[in-house]
Amino acid sequence: MQVWNDYMAANKQRFLDELLDLLRIPSVSADSKYKADVARCADAVKDSLLKAGCDNAEICPTPGHPIVYGEKMIDPKLPTVLVYGHYDVQPPDPLELWHSGPFEPVIKDEKIYARGACDDKGQMFMHVKAIEVMVKTNTLPCNVKFMIEGEEEVGSSNLGKFLESNKEKLKADIVLVSDTSMISMEHPSLETGLRGLAYMEVEVVGPNRDLHSGVYGGAVANPINILAKMIASLHDENNHITIPGFYDKVQDLTEAERAALNSAPFNLEEYQEELGIKEVMGEKGYTTLERTGTRPTLDVNGIWGGYIGEGAKTVLPSKANAKISMRLVPNQSSDEISALFQKHFESIAPAGVKVKVTPHHGGEPVVTPTDSVAYKAAAKAIQTAFGKDPIPTRGGGSIPIIALFERVLGLKTVLLGFGLDNDNIHSPNEKYDVYNYFKGIETIPYFHKYLAEMS
Ligand code: BES
Ligand code: MN
Ligand code: MN
Repeated sequence: MQVWNDYMAANKQRFLDELLDLLRIPSVSADSKYKADVARCADAVKDSLLKAGCDNAEICPTPGHPIVYGEKMIDPKLPTVLVYGHYDVQPPDPLELWHSGPFEPVIKDEKIYARGACDDKGQMFMHVKAIEVMVKTNTLPCNVKFMIEGEEEVGSSNLGKFLESNKEKLKADIVLVSDTSMISMEHPSLETGLRGLAYMEVEVVGPNRDLHSGVYGGAVANPINILAKMIASLHDENNHITIPGFYDKVQDLTEAERAALNSAPFNLEEYQEELGIKEVMGEKGYTTLERTGTRPTLDVNGIWGGYIGEGAKTVLPSKANAKISMRLVPNQSSDEISALFQKHFESIAPAGVKVKVTPHHGGEPVVTPTDSVAYKAAAKAIQTAFGKDPIPTRGGGSIPIIALFERVLGLKTVLLGFGLDNDNIHSPNEKYDVYNYFKGIETIPYFHKYLAEMS
């Protein structure tokens, strides 16, 4: 719409500057030394909602980091969109691999480099600016509520309770989230599912103290050797996961669903080259798109123990640790898989060591409908802004709270993400293309318009 384009053009630099200001706040939720920064970021988000035209906005404290809530209600008869996003970010380390400071955003080659540029400040802020565009041009076609949290990157452990105790306040027709990716700007897509997550920490303890690896080596179980062997045994030669019962509830896709999924544009050579690998690797019998979108996985995220300092120290360590995550697909349950993992991991430990398994946060997988009015509104919004119909895809990442929107609030979600898989989220040099940022701000108002028209 012309009025939207005009308003955007007149305010383009400010829209960018305001995002850069937000990116300067190191709102790292995992690390308590950033607690005050996280709180400051919540205040900044709240202020931005008021500035964008929300009638009210508030900070909702939780036992962890605060949730920011805001709303612009125009008519109870119109549909209400609940926008969810997160203002917290992942820790920036390893710092030495960044080309510029993670919290000193720079624009290079039309890309914004900063921690949170894509995940999720850049994408969340598109909604704040899109509401501003509609409010200031008197064209807002429906009611909008914002719920922007500060604990997504640490498992959203306090948000479920917030949903339970604020059902009336959060009443809406649909949840709208921009925290996922598109195939590319040439091939716009809409994610229609997310994987769940079960995250475990394991410890293998051998002798009661570190030992001389010559004096005792060969006679006492080495916890690192044992842990490596135990981890290696969790996949078989076909890269299937060996935990008994792990696949019991996994549903196979129909041939038609597989064909549809694999018809999405994907170039294996480019994928490999971009990652600097000679060959992809994964579960036998599935394509790369199937492996990331529709199959459960198990990955070691970190492993430590023994001597890792300079030079060589001959030591038989007393313990070894690892962090292991499993991505889940419908109808696996995070608690069930955690229990299966724990039982299996304990059962494969040799008698010479003790094993401790501690589950961390998890989340359930989700599939979003593609036949709903909201999905159709999102598809039409993309068609309008990009001139192309979106390709439905399945995302490999997880947003644990989405399953709770359905379970607690009875709300479906539309995943209107504008990130790219190579945006380096959770990695050094995270970026978000300036083009994607503005394309998002351009697309979002159409979603609201079509939702109101089609409802
Ligand atoms: N925005 C991501 C999830 C995501 C990224 C979904 C790309 C689809 C495409 C989210 O912030 C995230 O990182 N989630 C975590 C889980 C959370 C419990 C830490 C994840 O997927 O590892
Ligand atoms: Mn995110
Ligand atoms: Mn993330």
